[in-house]
Amino acid sequence: MKIGAFSTIVLAAGRGTRMKTTLPKVVHPVAGRPMIERGVRAVKALSPEEIRVVVGYGEQLVRQLVEPLGAICFKQQQTRGTADAVRSADVDSLEGKVLILNGDHPLLTTKDLKNILKEAFEIQSQLAVVTCQLKDPGSFGRVIRRQGSLKAIVEAKDASHETLKVNEINTGIYVCDAKILQKYLPKIESRNAQGEFYLTDIVLLAVQDGLRVDGIKANERIAFGVNSQQELAMATKQVFLQKAQEMMEQGVIIMDPDNTYVEESVKVGAGTTLFPNVFLRGKTEIGEMCVIEPNSWVTDAKVGSNVHIKAGSYLQECQVASQCEIGPYAHLRPKAELSEGVKIGNFVELKNVKMGKGAQAKHLSYLGDAEIGENTNIGCGTITCNYAADKKKYVTKIGKNAFIGSDTQFVAPVSVGDGAVIGSGSTITKDVPAYALAVTRAKQVIKEDYAKKKE
Ligand code: UD1
Ligand code: MG
Repeated sequence: MKIGAFSTIVLAAGRGTRMKTTLPKVVHPVAGRPMIERGVRAVKALSPEEIRVVVGYGEQLVRQLVEPLGAICFKQQQTRGTADAVRSADVDSLEGKVLILNGDHPLLTTKDLKNILKEAFEIQSQLAVVTCQLKDPGSFGRVIRRQGSLKAIVEAKDASHETLKVNEINTGIYVCDAKILQKYLPKIESRNAQGEFYLTDIVLLAVQDGLRVDGIKANERIAFGVNSQQELAMATKQVFLQKAQEMMEQGVIIMDPDNTYVEESVKVGAGTTLFPNVFLRGKTEIGEMCVIEPNSWVTDAKVGSNVHIKAGSYLQECQVASQCEIGPYAHLRPKAELSEGVKIGNFVELKNVKMGKGAQAKHLSYLGDAEIGENTNIGCGTITCNYAADKKKYVTKIGKNAFIGSDTQFVAPVSVGDGAVIGSGSTITKDVPAYALAVTRAKQVIKEDYAKKKE
């Protein structure tokens, strides 16, 4: 059975005091992606009629994350409890089925939500609570049943000693008819241990009216909510580990899955080896049979196959074709574009530079706003002086098969023709024709016995 039409309300107005930071709880990232963005994306994939997010603490930060995803934000004036939060989402304007989610459950997947909705539609539920069994139910709301039927949810803080022993808990996910919310939300009161309006009280109110309330059973992962830094770290670990497992299933060689940090959005080809402490982030794509050594940090980079990224390299928004060698300790900044077989060595920084096939810069250089032709060799300590006193950036162009001696500075704008040779220690301010030699250093002077005389 396919799921029917539904809208969704995501609760995200709380500060998350137990996180002990000034950042709103739902903005904290799990494996590179804010919790609230995860929740909204997970549900968006099921094409709900509307996604309403209840915001409050740190409203602007939350809005910035969810509005671009098509969510509509509703402000809860004061965080007075989950029922008050749902009320803030203007439930009177909703129709049909409503899926209610907490914004602090980062491990929820689209598949989980689809299964929950499917079941709610199948059993024609007017009000369903998603529950699960936990060995250690801790601070979760307890599910109270009588002869198997769901009767109430009791918050841990309000529960008796006996009730606390119940292992079935409320995951904080509900599927219900908008009509039910419209009818019972106004009746919820705040006479409880926290003085809050509990959404969970809707269960008892509905049962008292003779309505059937359903429990939809889910697994532990769905119940996993983040309320502290410890739980945030657990969620992050879980997501990275899951990604490592998936990659290994596709033939990625991972030395130590516990210490591999690949975000879910990243693609890695079969036969590529990831050493520990490698971070692959954002839109990064890595080809096949690459080797990525420890402590490399790669963000939004496109890397071909058979590329060797040596230890401690930092790559961002760049393109690296197949057969390249990078690092150790190389810095590829935005718009660095390396053609096949380029070699970039230690302490080389590249920015907005195109390097032709087989070009090399193997030691201690800065190449920015430049074009470097095929097979050109850039000697150690070369600098493109791209930033002028007028605060503008200028371009250096170097042809193919050129030989740039060590410790050369190119004062841009300047160009060097194919096959040209630059003598070591030169400061190049004028264009160099193809196949010419340019040297600008002072002639060496020898004064025989000069030092001896001084003695
Ligand atoms: C809630 C449930 C509990 C369930 C648990 C699952 C209630 C009363 N309790 O408790 O039964 O086991 O979730 O994780 O519903 N929020 C608002 N406005 C508010 C209060 C909360 O938007 O006034 C949001 C929070 O930002 C958060 C979510 O609602 O995303 C849940 O709030 P939280 O305080 O974490 O509730 P729990 O104590 O975990
Ligand atoms: Mg919670």
